[in-house]
Amino acid sequence: MTFSQAKKKAETRAGDGLDVVILAAGQGKRMNSPLPKVLTPLAGKPLVSYAIRAAKSLSPRSVCVVHGHGGDAVRRAVGASDFSWVLQETQSGTGHALLQAMPHLERDGIALVLFGDVPLIRVETLEKLVEAAHGALAVLTVELSDPTGYGRILRDGHGKILRIVEQKDASEDERRVREANTGIMAIPEVRLGDWLARLSNDNAQKEYYLTDIVALAVEEGFPVRTVQAECECEVLGVNSPKELATLERIVQRASAEDLMARGVRLADPARIDVRGELHCGRGVFIDVNNVFEGAVELGDDVEVGPNCFLRDATIGAGSRIAAFTHIDGASVGAEASIGPYARLRPGTELKEKVHVGNFVEIKKSRVDAGSKANHLAYIGDAIIGRRVNIGAGTITCNYDGANKFQTVIEDDAFIGSDSQLVAPVRVGQGATLGAGTTLTRDVPAGALAVTRAKASFVAAWKRPTKKED
Ligand code: UD1
Ligand code: CA
Repeated sequence: MTFSQAKKKAETRAGDGLDVVILAAGQGKRMNSPLPKVLTPLAGKPLVSYAIRAAKSLSPRSVCVVHGHGGDAVRRAVGASDFSWVLQETQSGTGHALLQAMPHLERDGIALVLFGDVPLIRVETLEKLVEAAHGALAVLTVELSDPTGYGRILRDGHGKILRIVEQKDASEDERRVREANTGIMAIPEVRLGDWLARLSNDNAQKEYYLTDIVALAVEEGFPVRTVQAECECEVLGVNSPKELATLERIVQRASAEDLMARGVRLADPARIDVRGELHCGRGVFIDVNNVFEGAVELGDDVEVGPNCFLRDATIGAGSRIAAFTHIDGASVGAEASIGPYARLRPGTELKEKVHVGNFVEIKKSRVDAGSKANHLAYIGDAIIGRRVNIGAGTITCNYDGANKFQTVIEDDAFIGSDSQLVAPVRVGQGATLGAGTTLTRDVPAGALAVTRAKASFVAAWKRPTKKED
């Protein structure tokens, strides 16, 4: 065998003869939400996408997702076309769910069962479990300080596993067992069909429990092995909002540690939430209470002040995002200064050294290098050139109640405070708008436009006085 053949063999071995089934049909009653539980976001991604990712990294020969009603939404959210999808019409238990996947499984390999609501399982652990399933039914277990709600692993006096009992079916003694079933199993496919066919729903929940195949295997003398998960957190399930919050904190802590390991300075690793992908250059500082959603990129030396929200945004090197700034679907050039209290909406593109100050909202506009809007303005559907100064209170009137129109402001123009630019309108290069102008016509380059009414005076004006009763 050549070196590359050997390497290829080693690479493909883990997934050889491996079929992964992800059970994701449960209603998630305790979540009390109309959203299918497996679509609940965890760090911004649907719960089920974590199990799918773990499955994929094993390079299995097939992946099958068992979904319930609302499965189309699950399918759309996950968007994976190379899987088989099976509907479980009634949620009659984990054993019944796996039975639905049987038509998609071979009979000569190993079926690895993952749960859509157990997202943090590590690939290394799964590899160990699959290894243990060569010639045995392999069950992943975990010692829990509080195993309430989990199935318990029951062993004989020699430590040999006998069966799994669900919390609801367990006696008081059995509930004291702290070794819990993670739900994740690797099952030799040769026996799987038989075992599933023999399950009964004669139990507290009137469900076909997958866990009962352990007792069936033991009964027929088929080897059963257990593998212990190293960390409790990798097998935690999401069944309630409380458990979801616990997992969210675990994921966020890990992502904060990861950012710091890459050299990002965080004022407090407990006060940053990344719900997507955050890419940072060198020398980045992030103050407290920041939320990043979707794909966010911070260039070298970017500083983000406290309490900002950034979604699908790119921030150029050396820029400062000051406190309470909201950026969504926008890009900011290098050495820009944004906020405090600025709002950049989708389609906004700011070039280098642009200044956007407090209570300025910009939507679907391009602002070229060195231009400034430092206070109280609305800029929508505009193209703004270089070194333009937008005074306080400026508004682009882009909407007539039916359609949107564009405002163009050319290089070096000066827009006086409290001006309204009624679009479509163009301010020529170097033109000036006097404060308070309501502009309805294009301004030629270099011109001054003023629409201000002349002030008039009434000398020695007496203000009205309050009448006595
Ligand atoms: C299950 C295990 C329990 C284990 C625990 C670990 C069984 C009978 N019990 O209990 O021993 O300690 O997980 O988290 O297996 N599902 C379906 N169809 C169904 C029922 C469930 O697809 O009819 C899916 C759910 O979407 C979920 C997974 O199977 O992803 C587990 O179901 P759930 O109802 O949460 O089981 P637990 O009560 O947590
Ligand atoms: Ca569960």
